[in-house]
Amino acid sequence: MKIAIGSDHAGFRLKEQVKDYLDSRLIEYEDFGTFNEESTDYPRYAEQVAKAIINLGFDGGILICGTGIGMSIAANKFPGIRAAACSEPFSAILSRRHNNSNVLCMGARVIGSGMAMLITEGWLNATYEAGRHERRVGMITRMEQRNQTIVPPTIAAEFPNETPESQETQPHSTQTP
Ligand code: RB5
Repeated sequence: MKIAIGSDHAGFRLKEQVKDYLDSRLIEYEDFGTFNEESTDYPRYAEQVAKAIINLGFDGGILICGTGIGMSIAANKFPGIRAAACSEPFSAILSRRHNNSNVLCMGARVIGSGMAMLITEGWLNATYEAGRHERRVGMITRMEQRNQTIVPPTIAAEFPNETPESQETQPHSTQTP
């Protein structure tokens, strides 16, 4: 199992603790940043982790921000990503068993590190049950396929230089947390 992990500044410390936990379990991972507590934007890291799963063969992802909410909203914009923001182990385990979640999101301002380890452990140990859930997860996948956005020319013209968030230059010192 290979995990892509990322956080913003709010999740940085907890990310380091989750990495220690992954090390203790000999679980392979790659850290896609951020690498310090300087204020930054969570969508950048959600994009990198989502793309690592979609394009680079990672089995799953862990994303940490202040609440876990921004990371889950951003990661779920990518096809095939099923990100679940969890604050306790029960939801994390069920998100694997029933929803086949492939990204776990947590909020460093919501839960403590002990709870985060229990959530991570439960999520990593749980497996997708398929069966009756296959039909429902399949419905989500087909919804995603039917609603793939083709950017209308007018909007494309408004944003001619748009680059992926993860590639944008990060401003320093002007940001508020
Ligand atoms: C950063 O202040 C905070 O907004 C971010 O970490 C996250 O909680 C967003 O969902």
